[in-house]
Amino acid sequence: MARTHYIAGNWKMNTSKAEAVALAKDLVAQLKGKKNKFMIGVPFVYLDAVAQVVKGSNIILAAQDCAATGNGAHTGEVSCEMLKDIGCTCVILGHSERRHEIGESDELINKKVRRALAQGMEVDLCIGELLAEREAGEAENVCAFQLSAGLAGVTAEQMKNVTIAYEPVWAIGTGKTATPADAEAIHKFIRGYIAKLYNQKVADEVIIQYGGSMKASNAKELLAQPDIDGGLIGGAALKAETFVPICEIE
Ligand code: 13P
Repeated sequence: MARTHYIAGNWKMNTSKAEAVALAKDLVAQLKGKKNKFMIGVPFVYLDAVAQVVKGSNIILAAQDCAATGNGAHTGEVSCEMLKDIGCTCVILGHSERRHEIGESDELINKKVRRALAQGMEVDLCIGELLAEREAGEAENVCAFQLSAGLAGVTAEQMKNVTIAYEPVWAIGTGKTATPADAEAIHKFIRGYIAKLYNQKVADEVIIQYGGSMKASNAKELLAQPDIDGGLIGGAALKAETFVPICEIE
């Protein structure tokens, strides 16, 4: 079935405010009228400024995390209410850098997923195995566990607002990309697993992005795979000239 390509840029902890605004302006101008679905994941402190730039454009504004609870005594946290208040409608959750650098558990990620969906936000849920897990033949098991734990309590109806990003940890920022065949194999597995968790219709409709050293030179072949529906892009998303060519692949 035809799923629209969904190309997302995860800016991670990069850019100054001026650079963030300038990059967003470039993207708004260059992606105008393009066919695919687009998102940028912007550092919290620049979301408001970037929201003014992308307002009314075809670019979805995402945060890179959110609180698992509503407003209240939660020092340092940022709620979905606050994000929505400034025009941010999507949140990237479960990124491997939050799992492995910050120590976020599947249970906490699931709370955030449910909270964001209950608040009517879109969620981009990241999953993916470590190199040691892949070498031990555990890649599918890890993805299955992260999917069932991350999506616990999420209804089939809510899955319309969920995108899955498969990001093998060993491919992130390393220049190593999964081969299109390897990536396709695990994407196919992920879709099959979602059919088991929900039903075939949900599985057919869910967008599954690939992430990990995706760039213009390898994106075409990756996106040509039947179960790779988009990309979650880090390094190559920090400049319009490296991000836009990926966005233009149909
Ligand atoms: P790179 O594209 O820099 O490998 O990052 C991928 C990623 O983690 C996107 O979320």
